[in-house]
Amino acid sequence: MTDIAQPATRPANPRFSSGPCAKPPTWTLDALSDAALGRSHRATVGKDKLKAAIEGTREVLGIPADYKIGIVPASDTGAVEMALWSLLGARGVEVLAWESFGAGWVTDVTKQLKLEAVAKTADYGELPDLTSVDFTNDVVFTWNGTTSGVRVPNGDWIPTDREGLTICDATSAAFAMDLPWDKLDVTTFSWQKVLGGEAAHGMLILSPRAVERLESYTPAWPLPKIFRLTKGGKLIEGIFTGATINTPSMLAVEDYLFALDWARSVGGLAGLIHRADANTKAIADFVEMRDWIDFLAHDRATLSNTSVCLKFTDDRIKDGAAFAKSVAKRLEAEGVALDVGAYRDAPPGLRIWCGGTVETSDVDALMPWLDWAFNAEIAAQ
Ligand SMILES: Cc1ncc(COP(=O)(O)O)c(C=O)c1O
Repeated sequence: MTDIAQPATRPANPRFSSGPCAKPPTWTLDALSDAALGRSHRATVGKDKLKAAIEGTREVLGIPADYKIGIVPASDTGAVEMALWSLLGARGVEVLAWESFGAGWVTDVTKQLKLEAVAKTADYGELPDLTSVDFTNDVVFTWNGTTSGVRVPNGDWIPTDREGLTICDATSAAFAMDLPWDKLDVTTFSWQKVLGGEAAHGMLILSPRAVERLESYTPAWPLPKIFRLTKGGKLIEGIFTGATINTPSMLAVEDYLFALDWARSVGGLAGLIHRADANTKAIADFVEMRDWIDFLAHDRATLSNTSVCLKFTDDRIKDGAAFAKSVAKRLEAEGVALDVGAYRDAPPGLRIWCGGTVETSDVDALMPWLDWAFNAEIAAQ
């Protein structure tokens, strides 16, 4: 049935998942051998490692010295929820959403916190009208929509002298895109994304204005211990120096410290952005030459350089969802691309992770396999 010739070479690493993402290319289990296991995370050895994770984050991402960086429970979701529940309600709220994760934050703000928020939404592939955002409100948004492969092009649409706070879920953007810290009051991400670390912990980054809000405003609703950032009206400073709210995984911490070292070895943030851009360009060059595949992103200025989402556009395709699923299955069965099916709530297609831990040689090697899987599936329909 599928007598279409297979490409001669295969990606050395077929891991193109959008989270957890590929480990740094030099990673082995030995990287964890110095982990502070079986020790209290409050002992000097543990606290020093947690502090190194915080300060390494500041150094690699270029986060200003007066911003607070905390390691919090429950991965990126935990960090975003802490921010929403601790900060919102003091003034009006706008939530921007253009894919599944942003839509999740709309639900939280309007249905769980029951705030009268303005939701500005757009379909997969597009962005809401950023020029219409009213920054006298607090504004919640996702820097990169992981499930549509659409990101905000920059921070120019956010005024420096805004009245409200910006709360940005940057989990698939941090370490791959330039984040303008003066435009961001709360920024969150998870170790499991761009640096290929482990899940479990989230990073919560607060501007001085966010801290001021925390210390001057008490939400009307109760806050569980796991969300509490203040005590007696003051920020719990310990959270931002490595004294975590509850017990962290020191194995995950060690893994993150390795990932930060690897990031430094490829040129820090600039090196990571360059790697992600090169990976995305390898796909863009491929797409450019084919009339049966395109990006989900309508505008190249908003095309993600991490979660690159593709759709099939060939008229011969009978059932779009089944077709895309079968192509992803073929790629997986051949061991050339794992976990590249579109996200469950997104339009049918493929999603190929292009963050810096992925080698461009592997993206290059994968492209001919897309030709193969597409043609094989067309023939098999
Ligand atoms: C934009 C965005 N927000 C939130 C999450 C949830 O992250 P986590 O599972 O690390 O909490 C993801 C995961 O893919 C994401 O891409």
